[in-house]
Amino acid sequence: MSNLHAIITGVGGYVPDYVLTNEELSQMVDTSDEWIMTRIGVKERRVLNKEGLGSGYLGKKAVHNLLDKTGIDPDTVEGLICATCSPDYQFPSNATQIVEDAKMKNAFAYDLGAACCGFMYAMDTAASLIESGRYKRLVVVGAEKTTSFVDYTDRSTCPIFGDGAGAVLVEATEEDLGWQDSILRTDGSGFKYLHLPAGGSVNPASHYTVDHKMHYIHQEGRTVFKYAVNNMSHLTAELCERNHLNNDNIDWIIPHQANIRIIQAVAHSLDLPPEKVMITIHKYGNASAACIPLVMWDMEDKFKKGDNIVLTAFGAGFVFGSAYLKWGYDPVRK
Ligand code: ACO
Repeated sequence: MSNLHAIITGVGGYVPDYVLTNEELSQMVDTSDEWIMTRIGVKERRVLNKEGLGSGYLGKKAVHNLLDKTGIDPDTVEGLICATCSPDYQFPSNATQIVEDAKMKNAFAYDLGAACCGFMYAMDTAASLIESGRYKRLVVVGAEKTTSFVDYTDRSTCPIFGDGAGAVLVEATEEDLGWQDSILRTDGSGFKYLHLPAGGSVNPASHYTVDHKMHYIHQEGRTVFKYAVNNMSHLTAELCERNHLNNDNIDWIIPHQANIRIIQAVAHSLDLPPEKVMITIHKYGNASAACIPLVMWDMEDKFKKGDNIVLTAFGAGFVFGSAYLKWGYDPVRK
């Protein structure tokens, strides 16, 4: 084993300006602020509503913010992985356009698709590349325009989702900080409960797919809920046990911001107090792969160097996972 660790040394983020409130949604479908807050926990979400812009634009903005904050030379970035399930195009990847925009001329670039787990899976990949000794400085992005596949006549899904992007700088260190451990799992039998039926190679766009609303998310909410709670809870418990983590030494848990009841159920199963559970779902909704880096960006001032942080996520596939990292720096970075 090498003694290199992959440490997060900076966070950037971006959310579009347009705020879609529950009040506005209640004029579009038969719902209410009270129902949405009780069942999902989203008060408002951001929507990228400018013509011709997609998740790549959000990713570019987040990376610009990261570069501004850290002051690093883009030429020194050796690779960028963009986690997304709402890419601008089937090809080329969002990552190629983000790297072009950021002038990272020495970087490889590719997208990684693991739905709502995308950022955590991409971080695990980046950490492995750095631990191998082959790379010293990478960028990991989570960027989503989930509202591009939301049906705003379907009240059971449209309150959940929002748009945004987060980006982190990942660097090599010999200090005992950064990415420590992860458990990642897949259960492909979950396909039927959560997927986007058309737009891929099985059902390319046609009059039929448009007429049958096949470009919108298909979700069986109750089943997804149960699988999410069970798998996130079990995997996080296993991760905590093998790393001797418990209520006394965990500083923060950052769960995927799927639904407030899922987040609370997972925290409860681990016996973690609410003040250690990081939540942004009320203001950004579920931005899929962008959720976890958006939490890091939004709450960056709370982290201290060495903080023990547990991540956990669940998404379409099903894919799920939990990871343990030690935060890399103290709050003030001007
Ligand atoms: N406003 C008012 N009523 C609603 C709404 C709404 N927005 N949506 C559904 N209802 C109604 C239904 O029509 C149904 O009415 P009926 O009993 O008259 O038929 C009733 O509420 C109950 O419907 P359910 O679908 O059973 O509601 P449930 O309590 O399961 O809540 C929800 C639905 C919020 C989607 C829930 O199942 C859930 O959160 N599931 C997890 C899904 C999730 O988090 N997905 C995120 C993507 S995947 C991921 O990120 C992990």
